[in-house]
Amino acid sequence: MKGKKILLGITGGIAAYKIAFLIRLLKKEEAEVKCIMTPASCDFISPLTIATLSENPVYIEFWNQKDGQWTNHVNLGMWPDVFLIAPLTANTLAKLATGYCDNLLLATYLSAKCPVMIAPAMDLDMYVHPTTIQNLVNLASFGVQILPAEEGFLASGLIGKGRMTEPEDILIKLKEFFNIGESLKGKKILLTAGPTYEHIDPVRFIGNHSTGKMGYAIAEEFLKRGAKVILISGPTKLELVHPNLQRLNVITAEDMLFQVQQQWSECNAGVFCAAVADYRPVYRENQKIKKKDEEITLTLVKNPDILAWAGQHKNSSQYLVGFALETNNAIDHARKKVQNKNLDAIVVNTLENEGAGFGHDTNKIAVLSKDFQLIDFPLKSKKELAKDLVDFISNSF
Ligand code: PMT
Repeated sequence: MKGKKILLGITGGIAAYKIAFLIRLLKKEEAEVKCIMTPASCDFISPLTIATLSENPVYIEFWNQKDGQWTNHVNLGMWPDVFLIAPLTANTLAKLATGYCDNLLLATYLSAKCPVMIAPAMDLDMYVHPTTIQNLVNLASFGVQILPAEEGFLASGLIGKGRMTEPEDILIKLKEFFNIGESLKGKKILLTAGPTYEHIDPVRFIGNHSTGKMGYAIAEEFLKRGAKVILISGPTKLELVHPNLQRLNVITAEDMLFQVQQQWSECNAGVFCAAVADYRPVYRENQKIKKKDEEITLTLVKNPDILAWAGQHKNSSQYLVGFALETNNAIDHARKKVQNKNLDAIVVNTLENEGAGFGHDTNKIAVLSKDFQLIDFPLKSKKELAKDLVDFISNSF
């Protein structure tokens, strides 16, 4: 982090006391730190503490009452490599999301040219309130990177989601941002994630329950290790922002195939986690199908197998991993997929296991390599499994 310029915005929540530790961690890493505090945050931690630890004056007001000097928020916004607002209260979040500008921190946010990260912290009911969720969605859509609040004990005495990400984890995120985890630097990974939707008419489609969680966790893990990721994503509500990420949104299997065909030859490895519809309606009706007959018949036609296409067009240095979602005889089915689709390995998950497959934050997987070696992983969070999987893949190519 040597020489990296971090502008820290501190707002008025109890987690402000943790910012002293974050500043210490950043200074130990030889980063340059400047801080803007909202007036409310000064009730939670003293500006003297922040100024002493950051080794810089603290900016609070638009102008200094003692000497009448103006604090130039435009210059402040141009100074950093990244502007991190932590902790971020519900109040300042709402103001950021709607363009309010009634303090120095907000004015600097509006004029900042650099990437912005936020670490929200608030009580659990505030965190899940629809306005908070909408404000976070809005900020994410502006390209702001969100470091989501964590579960645990809250200052209110309640237990739940709302704790600010710990300073050590914020430091990891900042290092990822600056690509300081570099074991896969120079590698390019193609990932597919989420479902595909196959149109029936303008209002209906054939889809499946994939949320994209598994695929996005893998994308995030590759990014943490310095790889470039091309994420071809079916429809999902998930957000992922990173300078090394190229996200290509698709709807149908045919769209996904097109994007894979454009990208695959440039990549060192492919991980195909998307739940692709095997069939699509032969025709997409132009108008909404009207309810008339007691029964109607929908004729489906087979979709292209995208993973099999990548297997056929794989060169000797490319490493290709598929997923198999099964409901019975998982390993037998997976073995056939490895052979038929010319894969180096396949990740098997089965709906027979509680907490595995679609939608959950957890999964239970086994990795079957092309020489039919099987590695079993216990039920874990998808994020932890993504680490195991990226360890496995990066040892193999
Ligand atoms: O997204 P989540 O909610 O987190 O859920 C994760 C998951 C369950 C979707 C994921 O773990 C998973 O299993 N993904 C693959 C689902 C699937 O479609 O499996 P399959 O056995 O039908 O397909 C085998 C492989 O071929 C997959 O890599 C699939 O991406 C690929 N495929 C399938 C059909 C097709 N037409 N083209 C393909 O590329």
